[in-house]
Amino acid sequence: MMLARCISQVVTDRRSFSGQTLSAAAFVRRMRGGAQSSLLRASDGKLYAVKLQGNPQGPNVLGNEALGSWLTARLGLKTPEWSRVAIDDAFLDQNQQMWFETQSGRVRPKAGLHFASRLQEAAGTGSVYEILPRTWFAHIKNREDFLGMLLLDLWCGHADNRQACFIQEADERALSAVFLDHGHMFGGPGHGGSWDLHPAVSFFLDRTMYDGLWLDGQVGEWMRKIWSIPAEAAYTFVSSIPPEWSSTPLELVVATILERRHTLQQLLIGLRAQFKAPLPMRKPIQRAYDCSESLRIPGDPLRAFPGSRNRLCMAGSR
Ligand SMILES: Nc1ncnc2c1ncn2[C@@H]1O[C@H](COP(=O)(O)OP(=O)(O)O)[C@@H](O)[C@H]1O
Ligand SMILES: [Mg+2]
Repeated sequence: MMLARCISQVVTDRRSFSGQTLSAAAFVRRMRGGAQSSLLRASDGKLYAVKLQGNPQGPNVLGNEALGSWLTARLGLKTPEWSRVAIDDAFLDQNQQMWFETQSGRVRPKAGLHFASRLQEAAGTGSVYEILPRTWFAHIKNREDFLGMLLLDLWCGHADNRQACFIQEADERALSAVFLDHGHMFGGPGHGGSWDLHPAVSFFLDRTMYDGLWLDGQVGEWMRKIWSIPAEAAYTFVSSIPPEWSSTPLELVVATILERRHTLQQLLIGLRAQFKAPLPMRKPIQRAYDCSESLRIPGDPLRAFPGSRNRLCMAGSR
């Protein structure tokens, strides 16, 4: 009985998909980012970052998010739990802040099912960060997961930098990384992009995150996990995804990644070479301000916001 409960817990933990269809209860605010997501409270009372069908990034973003989340969780990497959320016409009419801003004006999203990513929050006075100073990298409990995520992104043709947020519980120095934004996996939001972006595979913006992580034994372990994903499970999973979430049938995407597993060993050679070479530091971009403008501390953009729980901030000294 006990064992059965443990097994079911493991299975649940490996699936990022809650299996639920929720409905939108309240609009909270717009999120930043190209997909023009919105923060909504859903019918279960919880907060979700919601990516809408038809968003300006491309027609496959929601399907990519779903499949990317599923694969990430299958490898045992942290990624937000997600649900389908139903949004109707009346809700969209009442909340025009959710409409897309395009070059030709504001566009009303379509009613239907959308992708809802459970908002990552820290309890109490803890914080959630999106960009950290390098000196904090040593405090990330699961920093080695960045290697697993990199290999997954290499396998699945991620066409963007890898994004994560970092949760720090109150009174703790340690942080945990949660991997976010899978919309550009599988060749990008239109599936038209290149799956092989060597040498610019999708690293986290500051590549010093990977210092010391490339160990052949660890790489072998991640490869074993990638190979342990059963094809049937992937096909069963995508059959539960609303077909309108991807203009390319997700079954075809699954077929592509299964085939691509055979070339992954070869792809690793190019990636490994990059680890030996000095890794150029990209200029960090100040893009973490999801905190409301009113909370910004003028003249001190790096300062964390004391007590700013559950907001995405750039971490600094405190
Ligand atoms: N589940 C989540 N929990 C916390 N913050 C999130 C979550 N999902 C998205 N965000 C925030 O919203 C921003 C936009 O989401 P993202 O998935 O990166 O969309 P885009 O494709 O527009 O870049 C992220 O940079 C992050 O700050
Ligand atoms: Mg993003």
